[in-house]
Amino acid sequence: MTPTIRPRRLRATPALRGLTAETRLHPRELILPMFVREGLAEPLPIGSMPGVLQHTLDSLRAAATEAAEAGVGGVMLFGIPAERDARGSAADDPQGILNVATAAVRAEVGDALVVQTDLCLDEFTDHGHCGVLGSEGATVDNDATLDRYRAMALAQAEAGSELLGLSGMMDGQVAAVRSALDEAGFNDTALLAYSAKYASAFYGPFREAVDSQLTGDRKSYQMDPANRREGLREVELDITEGADIVMVKPAMSYLDVLADVAAVSSVPVWAYQVSGEAAMIEAAAANGWIDRRRAVEESVVGIKRAGADAILSYFATELAGWLR
Ligand code: PBG
Repeated sequence: MTPTIRPRRLRATPALRGLTAETRLHPRELILPMFVREGLAEPLPIGSMPGVLQHTLDSLRAAATEAAEAGVGGVMLFGIPAERDARGSAADDPQGILNVATAAVRAEVGDALVVQTDLCLDEFTDHGHCGVLGSEGATVDNDATLDRYRAMALAQAEAGSELLGLSGMMDGQVAAVRSALDEAGFNDTALLAYSAKYASAFYGPFREAVDSQLTGDRKSYQMDPANRREGLREVELDITEGADIVMVKPAMSYLDVLADVAAVSSVPVWAYQVSGEAAMIEAAAANGWIDRRRAVEESVVGIKRAGADAILSYFATELAGWLR
C-alpha cells in the first residue's frame, strides 16, 4: 500500500525546508572568544586552533570590529599576561593585559556588541589553577579564591566589561562577586555563570592558546562528566546567588544537560562550543573527511536546538558571515 503520510513532502525544496525549519541561527546570538597576549609584536597563530590567534592590542581591536561588522552579539576576552605568580596578581591590576584590552575594545566597538571578560585565575597563576592554592599547595582554596575573584570583578567592571564570565567553578563565586560589585556601585555589571562546567578533555587546545602552566587537572572543582542531575543543581545555586545568565560547557558532549537546564531556567541559557570541539572539526576538515562549513553549521544549530539562547564559538564571525 502507498503511504499517504509522507514527511518527505516538506523536504522537497530549499524553500519548503527553509519555511519549516524549527531552529534558525542569528548572528546576534553568537559570541566570539578572543585571546590577547601582553608584549606581543605580531599576532601569533595557535597550532591546535587553526584560524584563531593570540592577538596584540591592535589586532584584537581590529578583530572585534570585524566581529561587530559581521553582526556578532558579543566578544569574550581572555588575557595572557607576561608575568605570572601564585596569586595571579596581573588579573586585578588595572594595567594588567586583560583589563587594558577590555578598555581598548570597549573604546573601539562601543555598544555595537557586548564586551565580556573571563573571570578566572588560570591564565594568571604560575601553577595554572583557577584559584589560589591552600597552604599545603595541593588543593585550590575556595574561599581565598573568592577574595581574588572579588578584586578581579572590580578591576574588570572598572575597565568597562559589561558581562563577567565566572568560569572558575568555586562554590559561592556568583554571590561573592555580586556583592562586591554592588558595594562598589557596579550594579549594572551583569554576571554570566559558567554553572555546569565539566572537567573536560575538550579544553586541550585552549591550554595552548593561553600558554597554561597547569600540570595536574581541575577535577576537584570542575564537574564530573558522568553527572547530569548535578548540572541542574549548579544552575539552581547560581540563579539563587544572582546569576543573570547561566551556561553549560562544553556543549557537544553535554547537550542533555543543556536541554535539562533550558527546560527549567528562569534566566537565559548559553553554551560554549569549546576549543577541542572546534579543533576536531578543523582537523577532520583539513583531512578532507568532513565538509567544514556544513559541520560548523550543524554543530552550532545542534547546540541551539538543544536549548541554548546564545553560543560562544570560535567560528562566530565566520558563521555570522554565512548567515547574512
Ligand atoms: C577558564 C576557562 C577555560 C576555558 C574557558 N575558560 C579553561 C579551563 O577551564 O580549563 C576553556 C575554553 C575552551 O576550551 O575553548 N579560564
